[in-house]
Amino acid sequence: MSETFEPRIVAFMCNWCSYAGADNAGISRLPSPPNVLPIRVMCSGRVSPEMVLRAFRSGADGVMVLGCHIGDCHYIDGNHRTIKRMPLVRNLLGYVGINPERFVLDWVSSAEAPKFARVTNAFVEKIRDLGPIADELGGGA
Ligand code: FES
Repeated sequence: MSETFEPRIVAFMCNWCSYAGADNAGISRLPSPPNVLPIRVMCSGRVSPEMVLRAFRSGADGVMVLGCHIGDCHYIDGNHRTIKRMPLVRNLLGYVGINPERFVLDWVSSAEAPKFARVTNAFVEKIRDLGPIADELGGGA
């Protein structure tokens, strides 16, 4: 009766680096998990804590924010804003009863297709170990 748990992952990726890195991973045929729903944003600094919470509320078991490396942001300092905001996201997740380990922030450039594959595969496995978010929230999600 037990089914294999396939995590649902939402990945916010900035247009200029991470989304291009994901694209290149696909072009290079690197093994990437099918569990990841990519959401392209112009800059990782565009991702608000509310957007992350909304992704969880919509059924995501894990959420990723992927942006340009520090110093490479297309908008100069957009990812500095990301760095400042994401600790707040972790605090909010803890406050609403979601394990903050279900959220990750990382930097992936357009030239880092192998890194994209590595971080997404590792995150999917981590969330697979944590189990469905509905279990964590008492099955009521
Ligand atoms: Fe990529 Fe700002 S454009 S993080």
